[in-house]
Parts: sequence; structure tokens; C-alpha cells
Amino acid sequence: MRGNRPPNTPVPPPLHREAPALLPPPAPAPHPREGAHGRLLRGGHGHGRPGAPIVALAITGSIAAYKAVEIARHLVRAGARVIPVMTRSARELIGPVTLSGITGERVYTDMFDESVPGEIHLELGTAADVVVIAPATADVIARLAMGRADDLVTALALCARGPVLAAPAMHPRMWAHPATQRNVGTLEADGRVELIGPVEGEVATGERGMGRMADPAVIAAAALARGGKRDLAGLRIVVTAGPTIEDLDPVRYLGNRSTGKMGFAVAERAAARGAQVTLIAGPVELPTPFGLRRVDVRSTLAMKRALWEALGQELDLADALVMTAAVADYRPAEEHPVKRKRSAEPIALELVANPDLLAEVGAARRGRAPVLCGFAVETDTDEGVAREGARKLAAKRVDLIVANHARDSFGKDDDRATILSHEGAEALGTLPKTALADRILDRVAAIARR
Ligand code: CTP
Repeated sequence: MRGNRPPNTPVPPPLHREAPALLPPPAPAPHPREGAHGRLLRGGHGHGRPGAPIVALAITGSIAAYKAVEIARHLVRAGARVIPVMTRSARELIGPVTLSGITGERVYTDMFDESVPGEIHLELGTAADVVVIAPATADVIARLAMGRADDLVTALALCARGPVLAAPAMHPRMWAHPATQRNVGTLEADGRVELIGPVEGEVATGERGMGRMADPAVIAAAALARGGKRDLAGLRIVVTAGPTIEDLDPVRYLGNRSTGKMGFAVAERAAARGAQVTLIAGPVELPTPFGLRRVDVRSTLAMKRALWEALGQELDLADALVMTAAVADYRPAEEHPVKRKRSAEPIALELVANPDLLAEVGAARRGRAPVLCGFAVETDTDEGVAREGARKLAAKRVDLIVANHARDSFGKDDDRATILSHEGAEALGTLPKTALADRILDRVAAIARR
């Protein structure tokens, strides 16, 4: 774009927040997936990781607009390049500076902006691997259904070369209105705009009903799934996540501190990369990632049943198992059907060992499939973690063990891990769990396709 500027045009100061994308330092090489109209694509700190999609995030004027910031954060964390687009009403609700700060990109609001060469909607529509309209108001849904192009968001949706997703957010009466439902029907019949949500829940007024925007994490994952590379297409992956919990009586239980974040990250990235995913989850407080099958369980024995159902008794229904679950090693010898009463006397709990689910699959596996990846959570030194990981790799007869420290992993968004295989150890340093998930899946896929 610099090249298009007449020779003596003054260059505005680069710190101006509204126009950083137009005057970046020259990029050393074009972005690998820059579109034919790639002039908009140089600039911002948000170039994105190679292989991650370029997402045009279009925000329209619903109160849920503030949640678009969270969608942008999820996408940027996952390595996507996010180019924000806002309608005039969205600008009444949140400031563009927030979005440009998070994405490192200029925010586009106007169809006719003289500072941008070319037609902005075409430039963006060509550059973006996926367009996400979130939140999508009843008004934008109506305009999309009519095929109008009366602002940048609708014009962009009309000329996007990639998929267009829209996450409706409105008062339940607006969602239920026959006009909105007719427009939604039209979009579904046209098949060019995929709706994510809305969901049932509390809306801005505090009332409950259908009309709340889907969870930002789910919308971001859907964007990554639709816009990203689908290099795991054809692989069937089973992932276990979270703790298992063993009930002592109807009130008390034995559990552990696993939150399920790692397993959900693996499942989400596997689905986003095109794998067919079954996620077997212990009790956790996490929304279901986009595009996979989730089976909820509580106890270790319930996880065992779900696991064998997903893998098949002959282990022929899956190509890989990633076992992130923190499986309870013991369960009470007996579960009390009624609440135990308190007394001043000490009590002893009799516990019996649970089966080692991963080791059982390792022992039953005859050939090389499915690929088996376990985790080892330790409270030892780095050397101790690696040693225990290597021991579990052999003892459980698996292909990979991801070894980490409990203090670095439980409940955190990042993790410091080492991947152990029969060829050796690879220390990965500290990574966001989604990035670690990708590294694990790269290794799993390489073994599965060997
Ligand atoms: N695992 C399992 N079933 C169990 C215990 C663990 O399938 N009953 C799996 C975990 O999902 C993980 C791996 O085995 O992938 C290692 O789990 P970890 O808790 O680190 O090791 P344990 O075998 O339980 O050994 P220890 O607790 O003594 O370290």
C-alpha cells in the first residue's frame, strides 16, 4: 500500500490509534494467505500465526457488542488475525479503540473511507477466510436475508469469498417475532450464512428467554473451525477431559482440582482442524466447543463405559485417544445411599483402586491404532516429571505422554509441558493451552498417518 501513495504525501504519525493499519512499516514478506486484494492486510501487530485464519469480525448494534471484545481475544489467542468491522450503532455501544487495541488492527466502519484505496468491502471479503457477525441484531439478519448491501457489514457478507457466520443477540420477543423467524428461515434456505445460537438464558434486560448470544468462546471456535486449515479431516479422535468424581454419599464426594481446560482445548482444536471428535467430560464448568459430540460422565467407571463405547470394543471406532482426564485413582469401597451423620469420633474411609483406563486400552491394543496419548501430572522436579512421564509411557503402553507440573497446569490457561515419545523428549516451554493442544495434535496426527 505504501507503493500506492503519491511521492510527497505527508505520512501521519504512526501512533494514531485509528489508522495504524494503513501506515505500517513495510512487511518483510507478504502474509502467506494474503488475498488478491491484499492491500488492507499489511499492518497491525495481529498478523496471525501461519495456518490460522484471517477473521473479519463484524459487530452490530446489540447490547452484547461488548462481548465481541472477548470473541476477538479468543481468536487472537488462537493465532488468528482479526480485522474488526463495526456498524454505526455498534460504535454507540463499544469503542473502536478497545477493538484495535486487542486486535492490533485498524477498525473499519465506513463503506466510503477516502483513506483506504479500493473498495473496502471487496478488500475485506477477499482477505478474510471467514466473516463472523457477532452480535447480529434482528436488523442485520433482516438485511442479510434481503441481500442488502447498505452498510459495510452487509456488503462484506454479500461479497465474502469464505463462510459467513452470524451470532444473533436480541430480546426474546424480537427473536420470536414472525418477521425475524421468516428472515432466519430465508438465511437457512439460502445456505450462505450459518447461524450460531442464539441460546436460552438471561438477556440484557435481565429477562430470560431465547435470544442471548452464544458463548464468545463457542463463537470464536466456530470461526476457527470454519476458517482454519482442516488438516485433521478424516481422523476420529476421542478426548477425555476434567476430573472424575467418586461419591461418598448423596452430599459428599472425592474429587481433584482438574478444570478440564486442557482436554477441552484439545477437543476444540481437533474439531476446528476437521477431526471427528468425541469429548468425554467429567463434571466441569465449560461450554461445549463447536462441532463435536460431548458425553458427560461423573465417576471413573462411567468414564470407562463411555470410553469403550467411543473407541469400540475392538478399538476400531477411533484413530486416536487423547486422555487428559484426571481420573480418580480410588473410589469408596461403598457408597452410602443416605448422608453420613457427623460424630466426634475419627472415621476411616475404605477406598478401592479404580481401573487404569488408559493402561487398559494400551494393553488391549493389538496393532498401532488407535494412537494413544496420555498425560502425566506430577509435583516433582523437572527431571522427576520427565522420569515419571517416561515410566508411564512404557507402563501404559502408549505412544505419547504429555508431562507437566500440577502447579503449572491445573486451572491455568497456559501450561509448561514436555512431550515424551519412544523417540525422545521435546520440551515445549510455556504455551497457551490451545497452542499446546495444536502441538499435541500435530504429533498424534503424524503417528496416525505413519
Ligand atoms: N489414567 C487413567 N486411569 C487412571 C489413572 C490415570 O486412564 N485410573 C490416565 C490419565 O488420564 C493420564 C495418565 O493415565 O493420561 C496418567 O495419569 P496420572 O494421574 O499422571 O498417573 P497415574 O497413573 O494415576 O499415576 P500416579 O497418580 O501414581 O502418578
